[in-house]
Amino acid sequence: MTGISGQVGGALLPLLRAHDVIAADRATLDLGKPERIGDVLDRLAPEFIINPAAYTAVDKAEDERDVAMRVNAEAPGAIARWVQARGVPFIHFSTDYVFDGSGAAPWCETDAARPLSVYGSSKLAGENAIRAAGGNSLIIRASWVYAARGVNFLRTILRLAQERKELRIVDDQIGAPTSASAVAEAVATLISGGQQRFAMSVAKTNGILHLAASGETSWYGFANAIIEGLKARGVPLAVERVVAIPSEAYPTRAMRPRNSRLDLMRMRGLFGGSLPGWRDMLDLELDKLAAELSATRSLPPG
Ligand SMILES: NC(=O)c1ccc[n+]([C@@H]2O[C@H](COP(=O)([O-])OP(=O)(O)OC[C@H]3O[C@@H](n4cnc5c(N)ncnc54)[C@H](OP(=O)(O)O)[C@@H]3O)[C@@H](O)[C@H]2O)c1
Repeated sequence: MTGISGQVGGALLPLLRAHDVIAADRATLDLGKPERIGDVLDRLAPEFIINPAAYTAVDKAEDERDVAMRVNAEAPGAIARWVQARGVPFIHFSTDYVFDGSGAAPWCETDAARPLSVYGSSKLAGENAIRAAGGNSLIIRASWVYAARGVNFLRTILRLAQERKELRIVDDQIGAPTSASAVAEAVATLISGGQQRFAMSVAKTNGILHLAASGETSWYGFANAIIEGLKARGVPLAVERVVAIPSEAYPTRAMRPRNSRLDLMRMRGLFGGSLPGWRDMLDLELDKLAAELSATRSLPPG
């Protein structure tokens, strides 16, 4: 497994204790050097590959197209060719940012992808390279991933709410905030039945699956829920007001889709039901975050 220092990889690693996991960090398997991947995999000889590693800096990618393409497109393509030749199962991750965000209907797995950003284009190119290789590979498109730890919207809102009286948050991008833990649990379930069951899941989904929490909100709605949840857990905050703003009032280097709703019918068919609602997922992550904060506060100075 790659991406072990990341949100999804970090949440997945402890769930795979029953397996003999090769935790491949960047020093072991550098996705920025796709030409070396075949040799490294020959040496590691994995029997299953899970690849949550990615170039995920959405705005920075606009100025680093080459790196983003190497890590998000060429490297997964190289992995996919390696696994295809050896019959090794492969799980890769993609994103709602492959879509252009038009309309208001949830995006199906089969809908045409038209990315608005370099990041989205690089992730789509990765999907295409994997599909071109064929084999026993599953691409999981997640949306709005966050965790109690790491660099993400939840941690950003915590910091800003501690520092500022007023937050201005975009209210016209709609999606389903999904915890890295929930993604990790779904992946652990998918591989728990062994290679044959996994191959059936790949066949059932045609190799691509949308995975997200139930329900929907905007970044503004998500920020409000975070702040309310932090207050309810006794976390001291400076914030007094959260103001809803349109995307135009918060220009970013990369364009983001307005409509990030993912159709989850395929996921429900595969798992026999939905994932929890985004608010329930948030409650679990806020409990972890509040525990971490109170442990830090009760540490003796120095
Ligand atoms: N975050 C989201 O909102 C979101 C939404 C939808 C889909 N996704 C997708 O879900 C997957 C997991 O995302 P995440 O949020 O867990 O990512 P993350 O927290 O940003 O972690 C990225 C991981 O990739 C590793 N990495 C980056 N460049 C690398 C390289 N050249 N070689 C090897 N490893 C490298 C990082 O390692 P270092 O610590 O060494 O940098 C880190 O472990 C990704 O495919 C992402 O595109 C994410």
